[in-house]
Amino acid sequence: TTAVAAGLGATLLSSCGSQQLITFGDMASGYNREVAFMSIFAIALSVIIFVGVSYALFFTVNKFREDKNTAEPAQFHGNNRLEVILVVVPVIIVMFLALLTVRSMAILNPVAEQSTKIDVLGRQFWWNFSYPETTANAGGNVTNGNELIMPTKQDVALTITSGDVIHGFWAPNIGGQRAAMPANLKTWNVDTDRAGIYQGNCSQLCGGSHANMRYKVIALDQERYDTFLAAAKAYRAPEPATRSPEARGYNLFMKGKPSTGALACAACHRVQGTTAAGAAGPDLSFFGTRRTLGAGMWEAMTPEHWEAPDAKAELHAWIKHSPKVKPGSLMPTYDGSEYLVTGKKVKGGVLTDREIDDVAAYLRSLKLPEEADYWNETP
Ligand code: CUA
Repeated sequence: TTAVAAGLGATLLSSCGSQQLITFGDMASGYNREVAFMSIFAIALSVIIFVGVSYALFFTVNKFREDKNTAEPAQFHGNNRLEVILVVVPVIIVMFLALLTVRSMAILNPVAEQSTKIDVLGRQFWWNFSYPETTANAGGNVTNGNELIMPTKQDVALTITSGDVIHGFWAPNIGGQRAAMPANLKTWNVDTDRAGIYQGNCSQLCGGSHANMRYKVIALDQERYDTFLAAAKAYRAPEPATRSPEARGYNLFMKGKPSTGALACAACHRVQGTTAAGAAGPDLSFFGTRRTLGAGMWEAMTPEHWEAPDAKAELHAWIKHSPKVKPGSLMPTYDGSEYLVTGKKVKGGVLTDREIDDVAAYLRSLKLPEEADYWNETP
């Protein structure tokens, strides 16, 4: 069992320094343990059948070689006993594997009442994760874009759906993949015994930036998860100091710049505790705490994350012309260039570089309190 488990759990990719893991069959997840358990039988039976068929083939070829047999071998037609064996044995094998599968499904599928519930929404090309059992003090459910925070050592019931085309929710460390389908809610349990930061991907070809529809799964031990959730519920976006870059950014975020046609960010994005309640783009409530940009297009993994010069440059480029950075991004442009709205070219509005930096400064200020920073001290 251990050998097979270790083989299946082989880490195929783990990027340097930032604790990112993509591990197929990570044994910290109940789903993966069940898959590994079933795989042992499937692999063992396959080996037995392969050896048996190969032996029969080579035995026959050797025994009936022309140079060994001068006379014609016995000719007969039909063999009832052999035919019964050839039907019954595969039926038994298939039934056995089917029973194992049904057993695993019965173990994995029931959604326990006490499970933590998280709603997953996939859209071209980003994810929202929201907590339907929470009501934020500022109104609405706690929601985070592209970074899924979940507790360890318990079932987490995900309700997965899509806002446009079919996407695939796939974070190998916490379970297998599930389709995210429009107008269809699928509830599915995932779990992990181990705190950590894991990679998630869209697994269904869904358009120009399918490959750029990534997310992080951040599994926190219960106490840290509770701290995160409590802080997230209490969170109200910090009010910028008057005349600060953040305050100018806040104004542009909420109202845009009608004189140049620059659209308000708030039309498409939500920020908890403000009037920004857009739902066409990912939730930005905790943007400053997040370390990924554009659904994993870019990661700010330095300790000072968004304050580092390269992170600022990336964020600036992203706001200025997101479709250039990420093909198929539905965000408007802010440098006057054309972008696509339902297949039609539209000219974007214009913000100056300073104004873009102001919007970026506002976004970076949207932070959970230090103790609720889920990226910190994760093993
Ligand atoms: Cu969404 Cu691929």
